[in-house]
Amino acid sequence: MSSLHHPRVLIPETKIKQRIKELANEISYDLRGKDVTAVCILKGSYMFFADLIREMDLPLSCEFMGVSSYGNKTSSSGEVKITLDMTEPVNGKHVLLIEDIVDTGLTMQYLINTLKVRNPASIKTCSLLMKPESLQCKVNIDYTGFNIGKEFVVGYGLDYQGRYRQIPYIGVMDNEG
Ligand code: IMP
Repeated sequence: MSSLHHPRVLIPETKIKQRIKELANEISYDLRGKDVTAVCILKGSYMFFADLIREMDLPLSCEFMGVSSYGNKTSSSGEVKITLDMTEPVNGKHVLLIEDIVDTGLTMQYLINTLKVRNPASIKTCSLLMKPESLQCKVNIDYTGFNIGKEFVVGYGLDYQGRYRQIPYIGVMDNEG
C-alpha cells in the first residue's frame, strides 16, 4: 500500500485560516444588507468556499458551478466549458463568484461574461490564489487571498491529475509524487 506524498509547503494552514477571516470580514462589510448568492466554482474551490462562507456574517444562498480545467495538463488550454450549472436564477441577486485560483484569468473572464447576461444586481469575484505573472486577459478580482508566482500548486482543494485535493495547505510539487 503506498502512502500520500506531501508536497512542499508554500502557504501553511494557519496562514490560510487567518487570511480567510480577513477576506470574510471585508466581504461581509461590502455586501451587508444585500441579497447574496455565493457561487462555488467546482471542483477546486470547494474547501475554500466552505471555510470562507462559514466566516461570513451574512445571510446568503449557495450555488455550485462546474468548470472544466486543464484535464491532466499543468498549463492552460484556454478552453473553458461549463460542466454543471446553478439550479436557481441569479437575476436581481448580488453574485459572489468564489474561485480557488486565477491563472490565465480565462476561466474567470468566461464566468463573468456568462453570468452578466443573467442580469444579476452585481457580480463580485473572490479567489484564494492569483498568479499575476500568468494573466492573459484583463479580469477584475475584487478579493484575493494570496498572490503567488507561476509555480503549479496543489492542496486545499487544488489538484494535480485529480489528486492532492485533501492536503490541508497549499503546496508545491517539486517532483511528481
Ligand atoms: P485559468 O483559466 O488559467 O485562470 O485557470 C483557472 C483554473 O485552472 C483553476 O480554477 C484551476 O482549476 C486550474 N489551475 C490553474 N493553476 C493551477 C495550479 O497551480 N494548481 C492547480 N490548478 C490550477
